[in-house]
Amino acid sequence: MPRWALLIPAAGSGRRMGGRKKPLLRYGGKPLILHALAAFRGIRDVVIAVPHGEVARWKRLLRVRATFVEGGARRQDSVAAALAAAPDATHVLVHDAARPFPTRAVVKRVMEATLRAGAAIPGLAVTDTLKKVRGGVIVGTVAREGLWRVQTPQGARADWLREAFARATRFRWDVTDEAGLLERCGRGVAMVEGDPGNVKVTTPADWKLLQGRGGR
Ligand code: C5P
Repeated sequence: MPRWALLIPAAGSGRRMGGRKKPLLRYGGKPLILHALAAFRGIRDVVIAVPHGEVARWKRLLRVRATFVEGGARRQDSVAAALAAAPDATHVLVHDAARPFPTRAVVKRVMEATLRAGAAIPGLAVTDTLKKVRGGVIVGTVAREGLWRVQTPQGARADWLREAFARATRFRWDVTDEAGLLERCGRGVAMVEGDPGNVKVTTPADWKLLQGRGGR
């Protein structure tokens, strides 16, 4: 029987939100991070990586059954810290605290593909035309064929991820997602269909857009 752990990196500084901690912003009457948790019902081991020195405060504000750990300087450091706090997990899902609306269907697709392939992430095929721009001027058009925009939750066998983080430390790898680490280790990572509503709140403009959804 697989034993799943949900790891939530929530230790970002909120720099692009003017220093406001996105996961704690209230939406529809509760902190943003709690919206995402609903899609992971059934996973009992939850680890949340929070900003340095804020474990007690987040525990008090969120009041959820989870292990709270201090994150690190980069997202990957926060995920590594969370992974270290889930030593019994055989499989993990890593989900950005800043993505409040993963659907049950996406979570299920990722979990099934992870059990089958060892690692899986959700994404959406790029449909816009892509331009490379330098100094405000277009210097080329990027072929969009085969390009996908990546979301979370990202799933992986825990042993693969532990090995990947050990190598990342040894070789000083710098990545923006877990799949990036596994790719460097030569692991095959499956891509499954994500969901257009599974957005990431990054800037004040994203936050404003969310208000338009009516604080569901
Ligand atoms: O900055 P970005 O939007 O890519 O962050 C994605 C997720 O990673 C957010 O939930 C953020 O809180 C988290 N993060 C983290 N530790 C960092 C930087 C980002 O846990 N040092």
